[in-house]
Amino acid sequence: MTDQLAPVIIGCDHAAFELKEKIKTLLRDRGIQVEDVGTTGGASVDYPDYGKQVAAQVSEGRFGRGILLCGTGLGMSMVANRFSGVRAALCHDLFGAIMSRKHNDANILVLGGRVTGDILAAEIVAAWLDTPFEGGRHQKRLDQFNSGV
Ligand code: RB5
Repeated sequence: MTDQLAPVIIGCDHAAFELKEKIKTLLRDRGIQVEDVGTTGGASVDYPDYGKQVAAQVSEGRFGRGILLCGTGLGMSMVANRFSGVRAALCHDLFGAIMSRKHNDANILVLGGRVTGDILAAEIVAAWLDTPFEGGRHQKRLDQFNSGV
């Protein structure tokens, strides 16, 4: 069973700073402890610097779940999925968010701050946090690539 109150590590670049702040509030309102690796404002930064910090800590098991945000979500996805054991899912809708948990046991949610509006992003985060992994045949499939390809 998923621990819905487990701490979440979060990071973003300048293109999604404002959305990250709103999601932090949403998480804290749920009673979830948030570890924020930055960025801390709207000044231009390089998304890999933040994506690597979050993905490394999820990969090493220090956090069970992470959230990454950049303008499109694409760069953060590419960075995060290079880390062993990370299953980062770029989600644009509720169906994707729910299925990324049910079937893929996604441990990092990625959002595009220039793509997804605040209200939908909040719904996606809530659905992603609340949806457990189904296991079974899906675990077998994860095992087929968890240790590399
Ligand atoms: C920054 O301009 C932008 O490239 C970044 O936020 C992200 O969309 C990269 O994939």
